[in-house]
Amino acid sequence: MQLSNLNLATVPTHVGIIMDGNGRWAQQRKLPRSSGHKAGMNTAREIIKAAGKAHIKYLTLYTFSTENWKRSEQEVNFLMFLLKNNLRKEFERYKADRVRVLFSGDINGLPKDVQKEIYDVQNASKDFDGLNLIFAINYGGRDEIIRAIKKLTSDKDFSSEKLTSENFSSFLDIPEMPDADLIIRTGGEKRLSNFLMWHSAYSEFEFSDILWPDYTPDEFYKSIASYQNKDRRFGGYTTGNNDE
Ligand code: FPP
Repeated sequence: MQLSNLNLATVPTHVGIIMDGNGRWAQQRKLPRSSGHKAGMNTAREIIKAAGKAHIKYLTLYTFSTENWKRSEQEVNFLMFLLKNNLRKEFERYKADRVRVLFSGDINGLPKDVQKEIYDVQNASKDFDGLNLIFAINYGGRDEIIRAIKKLTSDKDFSSEKLTSENFSSFLDIPEMPDADLIIRTGGEKRLSNFLMWHSAYSEFEFSDILWPDYTPDEFYKSIASYQNKDRRFGGYTTGNNDE
């Protein structure tokens, strides 16, 4: 599916992606898992560009979960290295495309050098008005909610009696982040895996069997087009319901 065939007036505001399948992609080629992550990073670059071209406002990439620490030290270190280098290397492109880079997750739990890169890129891109690109790193949906509750209960100016689902969002990692309209998962599994739990209450889901390193902008646009054909009711009626 080409960009030119997509109706840009109705693209989702916020797309989240679970980039799964790097390990299997590498295994199929008898390569180390790190090669799969490297190839996955190249796919991420193409999809970020594709999202910008489609005028999507928020793109969240599930880059490292709170559960990923269970992987081998070698793999964790490689992912941290890739992340840090990727942020530094891609910055000129982000600048040219006015991409504002944000982070979600427990950033304090990351190695200091990665944290520094994160804060540098976040700062340097804070006034850009193109795509809001969110890397979910050391991220877990439950962890985000628990950290929000801790912030809320330690805020002396906030009485929990005033709590609503709207103002609760202001305690989440990125208060302005809208609900995810569409969540895409590659790699064949059909589950949320602790991604964007708060923001996915009404999300549409698109699952692809393609392993993340093989995923393409054409496939991404296909998922967007399929989302556009869905009828989103948010618990209400289909628009144009005349029964009443
Ligand atoms: C899941 O594949 C992928 C990850 C745990 C890491 C995601 C990281 C990248 C795509 C590369 C880094 C990207 C950026 C933008 C810095 P898996 O390893 O769980 O695959 P498997 O299920 O086949 O084992």
